Amino acid sequence: MCGIVGYIGNKKASDILVSGLKRLEYRGYDSSGIVTINPENNPTLLRSTGKIIELEKLVDQNPTPDQIGIGHTRWATHGAPAERNAHPHRAGDIFLVHNGIIENYKELKSQLSDYEFTSDTDTEVLAALINSFYDPDTTLQSAVTQALNLVHGTYGIAVLSIREPDQIIVARLGSPLLIGVGKDKDNPENIVASDASALLGHTKNAIYLNNGELAIITKTEVKLLDLAAQELTPKVEKITAELAEIQKQGYEHFLLKEIMEQSTTLRSTISGRVDPEKGTMKLGGLNLSDQELRGIKHIVIVGCGTAYYAGMLAAYYIEQVLDDVTTEVVIASEYRYRAFNLPEASVALIVSQSGETADTLACLREIKARGVKTLGIINVVGSTIAREVDGGTYVHAGPEISVASTKAFTSQVATMIMFAGTVAKAKDINPQIIAKFARELSLLPDEIAKTLQTHQPEIQALARHYSKYDHALYLGRDTAYPVALEGALKLKEISYIHAEGYAAGELKHGPFALVDDRFFELFLIIDGWLIDKSLSALQEVKARGGHTVVFTNSTKEIESDHLVRITTQLDLLTPILLNVLQQLFAYYMAVEKGGDVDQPRNLAKSVTVE
Ligand code: AGP
Ligand code: GLU
Repeated sequence: MCGIVGYIGNKKASDILVSGLKRLEYRGYDSSGIVTINPENNPTLLRSTGKIIELEKLVDQNPTPDQIGIGHTRWATHGAPAERNAHPHRAGDIFLVHNGIIENYKELKSQLSDYEFTSDTDTEVLAALINSFYDPDTTLQSAVTQALNLVHGTYGIAVLSIREPDQIIVARLGSPLLIGVGKDKDNPENIVASDASALLGHTKNAIYLNNGELAIITKTEVKLLDLAAQELTPKVEKITAELAEIQKQGYEHFLLKEIMEQSTTLRSTISGRVDPEKGTMKLGGLNLSDQELRGIKHIVIVGCGTAYYAGMLAAYYIEQVLDDVTTEVVIASEYRYRAFNLPEASVALIVSQSGETADTLACLREIKARGVKTLGIINVVGSTIAREVDGGTYVHAGPEISVASTKAFTSQVATMIMFAGTVAKAKDINPQIIAKFARELSLLPDEIAKTLQTHQPEIQALARHYSKYDHALYLGRDTAYPVALEGALKLKEISYIHAEGYAAGELKHGPFALVDDRFFELFLIIDGWLIDKSLSALQEVKARGGHTVVFTNSTKEIESDHLVRITTQLDLLTPILLNVLQQLFAYYMAVEKGGDVDQPRNLAKSVTVE
């Protein structure tokens, strides 16, 4: 969702801006633009709807040697996707790009009645407000500070002025921004970005802005202030991601790369944390003493979308490991508005790949306000949620570029199992169950690799057959139920086929009415004590003319139109293997349907607006 890049140095700014915005494409957007300023203080403002390639054509048609500029990819919240609403917005001598929402923009706009607005956006109101303070004897930093002190909402902004073309002003409240500090003293430069991926290849040193901070950036210096103009000491941190991790490496889509690399990324998730020989697991970074861990009586797991489904699956496992703890899994966008009560000795697991999801972040703050310990289960290092939780851990799945979350799900579930194992160890309970999970987690990477390699051709063929359907029911029981929900989400968000996940036992309570030739039914059937119930549901669907696909690890005789049978030595974690199969199925279904696999319509990788 939306992206910001800024550059000041000795290189051609437009090249850096366009390549940086391309790195942010995966976050989802509908339009883009850049502005650069030449040594004679003349601006070149270029904006376009559609993909970055359209902006690139404008840049090629309007070449400039300018060495300072800012750029933006917009995910519209106020004002339709249109050139006039694209950023940067100009007001007088200033240019502004903005991620977030100015919630009191109407009130501010009413105070700028003499200003002629050219767009429908909240952002242009902020640009006009800054301009209203930008008198000839006022510095840009002062005008920006005065304006931001009147703003309610969220922002990550970068501001340029043709009056002070040797600096970029940036500020952050709720929408991430970082400053890549140039590494070559002979060629000083600084780069601004809303996501570290735009900095890779330029520098590994970054200053992450915190909420309420503002920076004045020249090519040689970064001056950090708060909104009371008090100087702060910038902290330069290392960017951990590698350039290679955000490139496709020969895959046609990031989504396929991220599905196929799960065995590798899961290894980094569990590395140093699981010991199958000793039968133990240990998560660091929780900031909880053994006594606090022993005292945990209730766990609430918070997330959205795939993160929520990862929490649902993890809850089944946590209950098996921690038989003296109650768990609940909640959708962040609902829970944050409920008058919820959390019992004594609760902890909250805040699950988020991006660490920027607005609803999840709001929930975190609500829960913290109640004095409940919050632990992050986060993928993006340095993200807002990662900075605001009381403790927690990174899942180390590496950058997840495709909008559809896949490898993060697997690493999130594994991390929450390791959390449960860590708590159980502190409580000194259930060593055998911990040992079983430790063994299965250590085997899981190879099992994922084997499952994907063995069944990839078969899954691709299935997709060719089923991509003609417009509707699907995904059905699972017990630990296969959250996976059915996740599978349905994957299918709908990348192939645009309507898919609903359901508890298989619920079919007879309504969904049976749907079974006809418009639908296919995908069953996730796990070997074990409930398999006969799952097989009955399958037979009931078959008896009503349903078109059925079964993914299973069972060796039982199963009657189905199509059957994908995996062999695995796993027991508890089989649902995760079935999940990687359905990720692959959704991917090939999307390819068959011809959609934008990595950037599905209307979606964003990180939903930083509510
Ligand atoms: C999942 O494929 C979707 N991209 C979406 O549901 C996502 O899981 C959700 O927006 C939560 O994102 P987060 O994990 O970054 O918080
Ligand atoms: N609210 C601003 C707009 O609608 C910025 C949206 C974004 O974050 O891209 O233009």
